[in-house]
Amino acid sequence: MTTTIEAYHLIKRYPNQGKMDPAALDGVDLKIESGQLYGLVGPDGAGKTTLIRILSTVILPTSGTAKVAGYDILKQAQKVRPHLGYMPQAFSLYPDLSVIENLRFFADINGVPKSKQKERIDDLLDFARLSDFTSRRSENLSGGMRKKLALACALIHEPEILLLDEPTTGVDPVSRRELWQLLAKVIERGVTVLVSTPYMDEAERCDVVSIIFQGKMLVSGSPLDLEKQLPFQMIEVKAKPRGVLRKVVDNSKEVLSWRAVGDRLRLSVNDPAGAQSHLRSELIEAGADVSILREAKIGMEDVFIHLMEQKEKQA
Ligand SMILES: Nc1ncnc2c1ncn2[C@@H]1O[C@H](COP(=O)(O)OP(=O)(O)O)[C@@H](O)[C@H]1O
Ligand SMILES: [Mg+2]
Repeated sequence: MTTTIEAYHLIKRYPNQGKMDPAALDGVDLKIESGQLYGLVGPDGAGKTTLIRILSTVILPTSGTAKVAGYDILKQAQKVRPHLGYMPQAFSLYPDLSVIENLRFFADINGVPKSKQKERIDDLLDFARLSDFTSRRSENLSGGMRKKLALACALIHEPEILLLDEPTTGVDPVSRRELWQLLAKVIERGVTVLVSTPYMDEAERCDVVSIIFQGKMLVSGSPLDLEKQLPFQMIEVKAKPRGVLRKVVDNSKEVLSWRAVGDRLRLSVNDPAGAQSHLRSELIEAGADVSILREAKIGMEDVFIHLMEQKEKQA
């Protein structure tokens, strides 16, 4: 495998940032192999957009550098750009241009020869299921359709690397699924994709996930590896009355931490079998009616929350 994106200790301080504020990027190293779907996960303000904008040569790092498609982002920015499709987090289309005009515009500025534009645009309209809306102004598209058009525009010059900054944030669940189906097709074609997201279910789909927080990469690996590295197991429990359940869980020596998820509690424990049998008898003794008590699958959400809790303890 060849490495398509490599970053070396990127630091970014914005000129107008307060002196006491942490740097937007505080020494980020990164390696993305060709053909990977790489997820950048982190809360608001973590540094996702800053990192993506540096890699797409839109802004410069304060120090450190990166190579994208083999070219240095500082010394060879012009060479990097043709290899990249970039979909910014904010609206990137021209609101008063129609769907097809936006595609033609992006084709022109990305140097797609006129002779190839029609075929390419037809393909992308079909791909993004926008063929019936070619004359609609982009400002009149639904949020989901706008994102699909922005994705199509980012792909117009057939880049081998795609940088997507929160492509599904603020999009309804159906469009969110559609966008991921489109991404799956892009990846099938061998495009390397870096995607940032605040959603843990989306992180789960990636080959490699990095969790970024306050400008630093906290962990990086496949979702499965990150999940395996958690130093505990999970169980879930639903019982009534809820007040009794809470009290039992709070007083249990087996429970390391817990949180409410929907109508049940999710507990981290060292010994799931032992904890279940203890909890069952304690709950019954306290007069609770137990409807669910079982081991639960660990997910990226658990990894993320664990890391955030550790950070809070350190602070
Ligand atoms: N243009 C800017 N000027 C000053 N500070 C900025 C600017 N852009 C981002 N920041 C700050 O840098 C940090 C990282 O922001 P950003 O990269 O947008 O994070 P994310 O995309 O993960 O939400 C935040 O603290 C943010 O306030
Ligand atoms: Mg952002």
